[in-house]
Amino acid sequence: MRVDRFLSNLPRFNRKQVRLLLVEKRIRIDGEIVCDPHAEVREFSRVDVDDEVLQLGKALRHFMLHKPAGCVSATRDPQHPTVLDLIHEPDKDELHIAGRLDFNTTGLMLITNDGSWSRRLTQPQTKLPKVYYVETEQDIGPEYAIKFGEGLYFAFEDLTTQPAELELLGPKSARLSIVEGRYHQVKRMFGHFDNKVMRLHRERMGPLVLDDALKPGEYRSLSDEEIGLI
Ligand code: URA
Repeated sequence: MRVDRFLSNLPRFNRKQVRLLLVEKRIRIDGEIVCDPHAEVREFSRVDVDDEVLQLGKALRHFMLHKPAGCVSATRDPQHPTVLDLIHEPDKDELHIAGRLDFNTTGLMLITNDGSWSRRLTQPQTKLPKVYYVETEQDIGPEYAIKFGEGLYFAFEDLTTQPAELELLGPKSARLSIVEGRYHQVKRMFGHFDNKVMRLHRERMGPLVLDDALKPGEYRSLSDEEIGLI
């Protein structure tokens, strides 16, 4: 919400007072003086007028989890364990997943309470590469890389996928980099060649790489530097 609207919504200030407070540089958002009425106040921002706190703000939290197979990328599931069951933190209901993985897919999963951060990470316009290690049932032919580079037509969504890069690692294994996150995208891409994905592991989302030290099921907080990369 814009800061002028945030302030005018408080019963104590009218519009004229809000304009004055901003001009007189008496408002701070997260410690920074703001004069621009369009400046953004987020749910997690701290807002002060002079030395008085108007909104305390909340700590933003960002975690990297090594998702194991056999767990659901959801905050709740009636039958199966969820990735949130692996996180031992207070106020877990504030957390959400930035970029889901299928039940048996393993690898990098990012979990946060920071909505604008996760939007930047997952929105298609950002075009962040998501890199997967893939093992398949049949051999992967040279035609795959060509087709993936051109884009594949997905009839259900009526769209052509963005160009993807395929690096062959062995007859039945490859590294695939895609910039979108369509439903079952990797499996459907290999499915185009009637080739079943037997193992799928996300190694990287943009600049964030799964930490080698994390075993399946383990997680850690992201560093400020890692958070700032997105
Ligand atoms: N593509 C898939 O098919 N499954 C995943 O879990 C992730 C990407």
